[in-house]
Amino acid sequence: MSGTARPTAGSVTVRVPAKVNAQLAVGAARPDGFHDLANVFLAVGLYDEVTAAPADELTITCSGPDAAQVPLDTGNLAARAALALAARHGIAPGVHLHITKDIPVAGGMAGGSADGAAALLACDALWGTGATREELLAICAELGSDVPFSLVGGAALGVGRGEQLTPVEVGGTFHWVFAVADGGLSTPAVYGEFDRLTAGRDIPAPTASEALLDALRSGDSGALAATLSNDLQPAALSLRPSLADTLAAGTGAGALAALVSGSGPTTAFLVADEASARKVADALLGSGTCRNARIAVSPAPGATVV
Ligand code: C5P
Repeated sequence: MSGTARPTAGSVTVRVPAKVNAQLAVGAARPDGFHDLANVFLAVGLYDEVTAAPADELTITCSGPDAAQVPLDTGNLAARAALALAARHGIAPGVHLHITKDIPVAGGMAGGSADGAAALLACDALWGTGATREELLAICAELGSDVPFSLVGGAALGVGRGEQLTPVEVGGTFHWVFAVADGGLSTPAVYGEFDRLTAGRDIPAPTASEALLDALRSGDSGALAATLSNDLQPAALSLRPSLADTLAAGTGAGALAALVSGSGPTTAFLVADEASARKVADALLGSGTCRNARIAVSPAPGATVV
Protein backbone atom coordinates (compact mmCIF):
# COMPACT_ATOMS: atom_id res chain seq x y z
CA MET A 1 0.00 0.00 0.00
CA SER A 2 1.39 3.45 -0.82
CA GLY A 3 1.02 6.55 1.32
CA THR A 4 -1.68 7.89 -0.97
CA ALA A 5 -3.63 4.66 -1.40
CA ARG A 6 -7.16 4.69 -0.04
CA PRO A 7 -7.82 2.22 2.77
CA THR A 8 -9.26 -1.08 1.61
CA ALA A 9 -12.85 -1.90 2.50
CA GLY A 10 -13.08 -3.01 6.09
CA SER A 11 -9.96 -1.16 7.14
CA VAL A 12 -9.70 1.61 9.73
CA THR A 13 -7.39 4.62 9.49
CA VAL A 14 -6.39 6.73 12.48
CA ARG A 15 -4.64 10.09 12.22
CA VAL A 16 -2.36 11.03 15.13
CA PRO A 17 -0.33 14.16 15.92
CA ALA A 18 3.26 14.84 16.93
CA LYS A 19 4.04 16.66 20.19
CA VAL A 20 6.37 19.29 21.51
CA ASN A 21 7.11 19.74 25.20
CA ALA A 22 6.36 23.30 26.27
CA GLN A 23 7.92 22.41 29.60
CA LEU A 24 9.94 19.34 30.43
CA ALA A 25 10.96 19.46 34.08
CA VAL A 26 12.98 16.36 35.01
CA GLY A 27 13.54 15.03 38.53
CA ALA A 28 16.17 12.62 39.78
CA ALA A 29 16.34 9.04 38.46
CA ARG A 30 13.89 6.76 40.30
CA PRO A 31 14.72 3.24 41.51
CA ASP A 32 12.94 1.87 38.39
CA GLY A 33 15.27 3.89 36.13
CA PHE A 34 12.59 6.34 35.00
CA HIS A 35 12.55 10.00 36.00
CA ASP A 36 9.64 11.83 37.58
CA LEU A 37 8.51 14.58 35.24
CA ALA A 38 6.38 17.67 35.03
CA ASN A 39 5.79 17.41 31.32
CA VAL A 40 3.59 19.98 29.57
CA PHE A 41 2.71 18.31 26.28
CA LEU A 42 1.38 20.27 23.33
CA ALA A 43 0.12 18.34 20.30
CA VAL A 44 1.26 19.88 17.00
CA GLY A 45 -0.25 19.48 13.55
CA LEU A 46 2.27 17.10 11.98
CA TYR A 47 0.53 13.77 11.58
CA ASP A 48 1.17 10.08 11.03
CA GLU A 49 -1.64 7.82 9.85
CA VAL A 50 -2.02 4.19 10.81
CA THR A 51 -4.34 1.97 8.77
CA ALA A 52 -5.40 -1.38 10.24
CA ALA A 53 -6.72 -4.00 7.81
CA PRO A 54 -7.74 -7.62 8.41
CA ALA A 55 -4.90 -10.12 7.85
CA ASP A 56 -3.93 -13.65 8.87
CA GLU A 57 -1.12 -12.46 11.09
CA LEU A 58 0.44 -9.26 12.40
CA THR A 59 2.42 -7.45 9.70
CA ILE A 60 3.58 -3.85 9.37
CA THR A 61 4.53 -1.70 6.40
CA CYS A 62 5.52 1.95 6.36
CA SER A 63 5.65 4.64 3.70
CA GLY A 64 7.04 8.17 3.73
CA PRO A 65 10.45 9.79 3.16
CA ASP A 66 11.99 8.31 6.34
CA ALA A 67 10.19 4.95 6.21
CA ALA A 68 13.50 3.06 6.00
CA GLN A 69 14.32 4.12 9.59
CA VAL A 70 11.09 2.68 11.02
CA PRO A 71 11.29 -0.83 12.56
CA LEU A 72 8.75 -3.27 11.09
CA ASP A 73 8.88 -5.78 13.94
CA THR A 74 7.84 -5.71 17.60
CA GLY A 75 10.32 -2.88 18.10
CA ASN A 76 7.52 -0.78 16.61
CA LEU A 77 5.04 0.47 19.21
CA ALA A 78 2.21 -0.02 16.71
CA ALA A 79 2.91 -3.77 16.74
CA ARG A 80 3.12 -3.84 20.51
CA ALA A 81 -0.17 -1.97 20.78
CA ALA A 82 -1.95 -4.53 18.57
CA LEU A 83 -0.45 -7.43 20.54
CA ALA A 84 -1.41 -5.88 23.89
CA LEU A 85 -5.02 -5.27 22.85
CA ALA A 86 -5.38 -8.76 21.33
CA ALA A 87 -3.90 -10.42 24.43
CA ARG A 88 -6.28 -8.58 26.77
CA HIS A 89 -9.30 -9.62 24.74
CA GLY A 90 -8.14 -13.18 24.04
CA ILE A 91 -8.21 -12.75 20.27
CA ALA A 92 -5.65 -13.48 17.55
CA PRO A 93 -3.70 -10.37 16.51
CA GLY A 94 -4.54 -10.81 12.81
CA VAL A 95 -3.96 -7.35 11.39
CA HIS A 96 -1.94 -5.56 8.77
CA LEU A 97 -0.79 -2.15 9.99
CA HIS A 98 0.31 0.43 7.45
CA ILE A 99 2.01 3.54 8.82
CA THR A 100 2.08 6.67 6.67
CA LYS A 101 4.97 8.41 8.36
CA ASP A 102 5.25 12.19 8.39
CA ILE A 103 6.44 12.81 11.98
CA PRO A 104 10.26 12.96 12.22
CA VAL A 105 11.65 9.54 13.23
CA ALA A 106 13.51 9.30 16.60
CA GLY A 107 13.26 13.08 16.74
CA GLY A 108 11.83 13.91 20.17
CA MET A 109 8.34 14.50 18.74
CA ALA A 110 6.79 11.21 19.95
CA GLY A 111 6.39 9.76 16.46
CA GLY A 112 6.79 6.17 17.67
CA SER A 113 4.40 6.81 20.56
CA ALA A 114 1.92 8.35 18.14
CA ASP A 115 1.93 5.19 16.03
CA GLY A 116 1.34 3.09 19.15
CA ALA A 117 -1.70 5.14 20.15
CA ALA A 118 -3.04 5.20 16.59
CA ALA A 119 -2.63 1.44 16.11
CA LEU A 120 -4.42 0.79 19.40
CA LEU A 121 -7.41 2.90 18.40
CA ALA A 122 -7.45 1.45 14.87
CA CYS A 123 -7.31 -2.17 16.08
CA ASP A 124 -10.00 -1.49 18.69
CA ALA A 125 -12.29 -0.24 15.91
CA LEU A 126 -11.31 -2.98 13.42
CA TRP A 127 -11.79 -5.82 15.90
CA GLY A 128 -14.81 -4.28 17.60
CA THR A 129 -13.13 -4.80 20.96
CA GLY A 130 -15.10 -1.92 22.47
CA ALA A 131 -12.33 -1.02 24.94
CA THR A 132 -13.20 1.86 27.26
CA ARG A 133 -11.18 5.06 27.10
CA GLU A 134 -9.77 4.12 30.51
CA GLU A 135 -8.58 0.74 29.22
CA LEU A 136 -7.04 2.31 26.11
CA LEU A 137 -5.18 4.83 28.29
CA ALA A 138 -3.94 2.03 30.59
CA ILE A 139 -2.57 0.09 27.59
CA CYS A 140 -0.98 3.29 26.26
CA ALA A 141 0.77 3.85 29.61
CA GLU A 142 2.16 0.29 29.49
CA LEU A 143 3.50 0.92 25.98
CA GLY A 144 5.43 4.08 26.86
CA SER A 145 5.47 7.31 28.84
CA ASP A 146 4.37 9.54 25.92
CA VAL A 147 1.77 7.19 24.41
CA PRO A 148 -1.25 8.29 26.51
CA PHE A 149 -0.75 11.88 25.39
CA SER A 150 -0.70 10.84 21.72
CA LEU A 151 -4.16 9.37 22.28
CA VAL A 152 -5.65 12.47 23.96
CA GLY A 153 -3.82 15.29 22.11
CA GLY A 154 -4.57 18.96 22.74
CA ALA A 155 -2.45 20.02 25.67
CA ALA A 156 -1.87 18.24 28.96
CA LEU A 157 0.34 18.12 32.00
CA GLY A 158 1.93 14.70 32.41
CA VAL A 159 3.32 13.70 35.81
CA GLY A 160 4.79 10.46 37.11
CA ARG A 161 6.92 9.34 34.17
CA GLY A 162 4.69 11.55 32.01
CA GLU A 163 1.81 9.11 31.62
CA GLN A 164 -0.56 10.56 34.27
CA LEU A 165 -2.35 13.30 32.36
CA THR A 166 -4.41 16.34 33.28
CA PRO A 167 -5.81 18.45 30.44
CA VAL A 168 -4.37 21.95 30.07
CA GLU A 169 -6.40 24.82 28.63
CA VAL A 170 -5.03 26.56 25.53
CA GLY A 171 -6.52 29.93 24.61
CA GLY A 172 -5.21 30.38 21.07
CA THR A 173 -3.18 29.02 18.19
CA PHE A 174 0.61 28.83 18.47
CA HIS A 175 2.83 28.77 15.39
CA TRP A 176 5.95 26.59 15.29
CA VAL A 177 8.82 25.67 13.04
CA PHE A 178 10.60 22.36 13.60
CA ALA A 179 14.14 21.80 12.36
CA VAL A 180 14.64 18.13 11.57
CA ALA A 181 18.19 16.96 12.30
CA ASP A 182 20.21 14.30 10.53
CA GLY A 183 19.80 11.04 12.42
CA GLY A 184 17.98 10.49 15.70
CA LEU A 185 18.91 10.60 19.38
CA SER A 186 18.14 7.71 21.71
CA THR A 187 15.81 8.82 24.52
CA PRO A 188 17.48 6.53 27.14
CA ALA A 189 20.89 7.93 26.08
CA VAL A 190 19.68 11.50 26.60
CA TYR A 191 18.26 10.67 30.04
CA GLY A 192 21.56 8.90 30.82
CA GLU A 193 23.45 12.06 29.84
CA PHE A 194 21.08 14.09 32.05
CA ASP A 195 22.04 11.78 34.96
CA ARG A 196 25.73 12.20 34.19
CA LEU A 197 25.52 16.00 33.93
CA THR A 198 23.51 16.33 37.15
CA ALA A 199 25.42 13.71 39.20
CA GLY A 200 26.08 14.87 42.76
CA ARG A 201 23.58 17.73 42.46
CA ASP A 202 20.41 18.13 44.45
CA ILE A 203 17.62 17.87 41.85
CA PRO A 204 14.34 19.48 42.95
CA ALA A 205 11.04 17.65 42.47
CA PRO A 206 9.69 18.69 39.05
CA THR A 207 6.73 21.08 39.09
CA ALA A 208 4.72 22.69 36.31
CA SER A 209 5.37 26.40 35.78
CA GLU A 210 2.28 28.48 36.60
CA ALA A 211 3.59 31.23 34.30
CA LEU A 212 3.76 28.76 31.43
CA LEU A 213 0.26 27.40 32.11
CA ASP A 214 -1.02 31.01 32.21
CA ALA A 215 0.70 31.72 28.88
CA LEU A 216 -1.00 28.69 27.30
CA ARG A 217 -4.36 29.70 28.73
CA SER A 218 -4.01 33.26 27.41
CA GLY A 219 -2.85 32.17 23.94
CA ASP A 220 -0.06 34.78 24.19
CA SER A 221 2.96 33.69 22.10
CA GLY A 222 5.29 36.23 23.69
CA ALA A 223 4.44 35.02 27.19
CA LEU A 224 4.81 31.40 26.12
CA ALA A 225 8.20 32.15 24.53
CA ALA A 226 9.42 33.56 27.85
CA THR A 227 8.40 30.44 29.77
CA LEU A 228 9.28 27.48 27.52
CA SER A 229 11.85 25.18 29.12
CA ASN A 230 13.42 21.77 28.65
CA ASP A 231 15.64 20.22 31.33
CA LEU A 232 16.85 17.65 28.77
CA GLN A 233 18.26 20.36 26.51
CA PRO A 234 21.77 20.48 28.08
CA ALA A 235 21.98 16.68 27.74
CA ALA A 236 20.83 16.72 24.10
CA LEU A 237 23.32 19.53 23.33
CA SER A 238 26.09 17.64 25.10
CA LEU A 239 25.45 14.60 22.89
CA ARG A 240 24.86 16.69 19.75
CA PRO A 241 26.73 20.05 20.12
CA SER A 242 25.85 21.10 16.56
CA LEU A 243 22.23 21.63 17.68
CA ALA A 244 23.40 24.95 19.19
CA ASP A 245 24.00 26.21 15.63
CA THR A 246 20.46 25.23 14.62
CA LEU A 247 18.99 27.01 17.66
CA ALA A 248 21.03 30.14 16.84
CA ALA A 249 19.96 30.07 13.18
CA GLY A 250 16.28 30.08 14.18
CA THR A 251 16.55 32.84 16.78
CA GLY A 252 18.69 34.88 14.36
CA ALA A 253 15.83 34.68 11.86
CA GLY A 254 13.29 36.08 14.33
CA ALA A 255 11.91 33.12 16.28
CA LEU A 256 10.42 34.19 19.62
CA ALA A 257 12.04 31.21 21.32
CA ALA A 258 14.08 28.15 20.41
CA LEU A 259 14.45 24.87 22.28
CA VAL A 260 15.20 21.22 21.80
CA SER A 261 11.98 19.20 21.36
CA GLY A 262 11.81 16.58 24.12
CA SER A 263 14.96 14.45 24.00
CA GLY A 264 15.80 15.83 20.53
CA PRO A 265 17.42 16.12 18.12
CA THR A 266 14.50 18.00 16.52
CA THR A 267 14.62 21.66 17.54
CA ALA A 268 11.44 23.71 17.99
CA PHE A 269 10.99 27.41 17.23
CA LEU A 270 7.99 29.33 18.51
CA VAL A 271 7.14 32.14 16.07
CA ALA A 272 4.64 35.01 16.06
CA ASP A 273 2.56 34.05 13.01
CA GLU A 274 2.47 32.15 9.73
CA ALA A 275 4.57 34.73 7.85
CA SER A 276 7.26 34.54 10.50
CA ALA A 277 7.09 30.74 10.37
CA ARG A 278 7.88 30.80 6.64
CA LYS A 279 10.76 33.23 7.18
CA VAL A 280 12.30 31.16 9.98
CA ALA A 281 11.81 27.91 8.05
CA ASP A 282 13.54 29.40 4.98
CA ALA A 283 16.43 30.68 7.12
CA LEU A 284 16.83 27.28 8.79
CA LEU A 285 16.82 25.49 5.43
CA GLY A 286 19.40 27.97 4.09
CA SER A 287 21.61 27.72 7.19
CA GLY A 288 22.80 24.21 6.44
CA THR A 289 22.31 23.35 10.13
CA CYS A 290 19.39 20.94 9.63
CA ARG A 291 18.01 18.42 7.16
CA ASN A 292 14.51 19.87 6.86
CA ALA A 293 12.26 22.52 8.37
CA ARG A 294 8.56 21.90 9.01
CA ILE A 295 5.83 24.41 9.87
CA ALA A 296 2.95 23.42 12.16
CA VAL A 297 0.41 24.89 14.57
CA SER A 298 -0.73 23.80 18.00
CA PRO A 299 -2.81 22.60 19.67
CA ALA A 300 -3.90 19.65 17.51
CA PRO A 301 -6.46 16.92 18.21
CA GLY A 302 -5.34 13.52 19.54
CA ALA A 303 -5.61 10.18 17.72
CA THR A 304 -8.81 10.21 15.63
CA VAL A 305 -10.45 7.68 13.32
CA VAL A 306 -10.69 9.30 9.88
O1 C5P B 1 8.50 5.32 28.46
P1 C5P B 1 9.43 5.16 27.31
O2 C5P B 1 9.57 3.72 26.88
O3 C5P B 1 9.09 6.05 26.16
O4 C5P B 1 10.84 5.63 27.81
C1 C5P B 1 12.01 5.41 27.07
C2 C5P B 1 13.21 5.62 27.96
O5 C5P B 1 13.31 7.01 28.32
C3 C5P B 1 13.16 4.88 29.28
O6 C5P B 1 13.67 3.59 29.14
C4 C5P B 1 14.03 5.74 30.17
O7 C5P B 1 15.40 5.51 29.90
C5 C5P B 1 13.74 7.14 29.66
N1 C5P B 1 12.68 7.82 30.43
C6 C5P B 1 12.94 8.24 31.72
N2 C5P B 1 11.98 8.86 32.45
C7 C5P B 1 10.76 9.11 31.91
C8 C5P B 1 10.47 8.71 30.60
C9 C5P B 1 11.44 8.06 29.87
O8 C5P B 1 14.05 8.04 32.23
N3 C5P B 1 9.85 9.75 32.63
